[in-house]
Amino acid sequence: MLKIYISYVNKIDTTRKYNRIEKFYDNIAIYYDEKWWYNNPDSRHVKIFASEIIYSHILPEKFVLDVGCGTCDTPIKLSSKDCKIIGLDISSNMLAIAKEKIPESYRNEISLVKGNAEKLPFDDDQFDYVISDFTLNYVDNPKTAMDEMLRVLKKDGRLLLIFSNRNPMYIVFWELLIGNIDFIKKLKKNEDNISFPYAKIKTQFKRFSKNDIQTMVTELPIQKIQIIGTHGLTGFIGYPILLLGLFIQSLEKKKFEFDDIDHFIKMKGERIVFNIFKKGESLDKHFNTIGRDIIFIGKKI
Ligand SMILES: C[S@@+](CC[C@H](N)C(=O)[O-])C[C@H]1O[C@@H](n2cnc3c(N)ncnc32)[C@H](O)[C@@H]1O
Repeated sequence: MLKIYISYVNKIDTTRKYNRIEKFYDNIAIYYDEKWWYNNPDSRHVKIFASEIIYSHILPEKFVLDVGCGTCDTPIKLSSKDCKIIGLDISSNMLAIAKEKIPESYRNEISLVKGNAEKLPFDDDQFDYVISDFTLNYVDNPKTAMDEMLRVLKKDGRLLLIFSNRNPMYIVFWELLIGNIDFIKKLKKNEDNISFPYAKIKTQFKRFSKNDIQTMVTELPIQKIQIIGTHGLTGFIGYPILLLGLFIQSLEKKKFEFDDIDHFIKMKGERIVFNIFKKGESLDKHFNTIGRDIIFIGKKI
């Protein structure tokens, strides 16, 4: 039986260049949902777009593993399909928040496990689906994690990965707009870190291009089904419009309601941004090498 403790200690070691991933997420867990994802329309859209893609690919009543489940938005969404889901994460505090969030009616469908993506505590060929959204970028050895995910996946089972792209033109555009030349230099050298604006901590963060992933999977028993990009062309063109949307939203003086994600497009500014990105999704599929994130869908053979 999993024991999860809620400590929320904020003893942040700022003397280290980077925090270990577990510590990083333990420290930001209480702010994570609201400030990481739902604070601005851009991140909100990516999160909702990604979860819609995952949701649409998973058939009802299946056995699903979510590697790096965080606060469990994806498992909660999948519970409505009567799937049995195991959410695994390395951070106890992220799991503790997840535990609080899972509605009473879904408690039988979702189990939480503390563990490392690189050494999954499950037998071979167990799951119909293994998903991992926005996690591979943090793992020390992503290839080992992918090996592990495929090991626990059943034959013909599906692997769905979402990760940040190494060649994100939209980020270059955005960082240039705000004058962050350093970021561009780091991106060129393929070294990066991610910091959380509400706590003075950083952690390592690797980006992968579409080609990096294709190289990783060539040695694995997996057949590529689809690669989709998020915020490719639309991100690039849409950013000035995003600023306009945010401005209109600020005039409306309405606050986004986190508990009401499915109906989040209530505000005018939000709606403008959402429609621009939504309209561009079909375009983004053809421009997935420059998208902000890449969604990889494969089948175990
Ligand atoms: C950006 S969050 C994504 C969480 C969630 N999937 C979502 O979409 O909101 C990354 C998550 O991966 C977890 N993580 C990072 N490295 C991990 C590892 N090696 N094993 C398991 N979980 C890991 C972190 O604790 C964190 O909860």
